[in-house]
Amino acid sequence: MSNSPFLSNCTADKIREAAVALKAGHLVAFPTETVYGLGADARNPDAVKRIYEVKGRPTDHPLIVHISSINQLDKWASAIPDYGIALARKIWPGPMTLIFKRSEITKDFITGGQDTVGLRIPSDPLALALIAEFEKISDSAVAAPSANRFGQVSPTTAQAVSAELSAYLTEDDLILDGGACVVGVESTIIDCTGKNPRILRPGAITEEVIAEATGIGISSVTSKDATSEIRVSGSLESHYSPIAIVLLDQLPIAGEGFIALAEIPTPKGVIRLASPRNDEEFARALYAALRAADEQELQRVIISQPHGNGIAIAIRDRLIRAAKGR
Ligand code: TXA
Ligand code: MG
Repeated sequence: MSNSPFLSNCTADKIREAAVALKAGHLVAFPTETVYGLGADARNPDAVKRIYEVKGRPTDHPLIVHISSINQLDKWASAIPDYGIALARKIWPGPMTLIFKRSEITKDFITGGQDTVGLRIPSDPLALALIAEFEKISDSAVAAPSANRFGQVSPTTAQAVSAELSAYLTEDDLILDGGACVVGVESTIIDCTGKNPRILRPGAITEEVIAEATGIGISSVTSKDATSEIRVSGSLESHYSPIAIVLLDQLPIAGEGFIALAEIPTPKGVIRLASPRNDEEFARALYAALRAADEQELQRVIISQPHGNGIAIAIRDRLIRAAKGR
């Protein structure tokens, strides 16, 4: 796994090489602060088609276009409301995806046929360097979903990407290794096509942060209602699922995996998969712990949900979906 032919460190040379690979229509998996992405040239339909093949993802699920600067916003989006500008200026680069009406160049093969586009400027310096380098040589940007097979747990290390996708990659594709992701759950997705911002997928950027940045209220439609109009694949009920059965908030018994805050002790014979000291650490450790459960071929994983606000809301959102199973 660690000697995967696709893996390489993120030196400046490698980043340039990766940008050239994108330009040639190949795929490049890369780290972001949230989870690893599987990138392709957002203006190359054949390259984007390969993302769907490698992920095994239905083609009507839209992709996020990753850009390096706010100057690129008008290129991909149109009709951007003032609160959208405020969010972009105050929170990007960061773990937030904004949905706008699309522009001329944003085609159906990116948006899944919808008239909107998801955009994100990630804060991870390696991600930013790759996107900027690619923009320089291409007049395009990097379309990227999370680098996992459809419905599975998102990868937070390059090794996890390699274990999951190597069988589907070809020799010109690359996986850039930037170490473990610092946030650990996917970006907050905010619909910016209405009068008020509306959260479609919770993440590290919370309702409070959005209200503070925009000075206006959040549309109170829950993400569940929102999905009846807008397709967000991460909002399918069953998602983020390991092979092991995930059960929430019950006492684990011997032989079962267990993920909980460090203050909660491990009962005898139980296999502790993570002991995060706070909610931020919980988010960072969760997906790797779920993967570890499958590597150890555990049948069941018990998870004590964190109770707080902040990123705990995003953690609970993912846990509830993981617990729905496949
Ligand atoms: O943190 C993240 O957002 C990571 C990193 C790699 O940036 N990306 C990610 O991508 O999680 P993905 O494709 O696994 O999840 C993005 C979600 C999908 O559920 C997709 O349906 C939704 O964003 N999405 C993308 N464009 C959209 C649009 N125009 N309207 C509604 N939902 C959209
Ligand atoms: Mg995903």
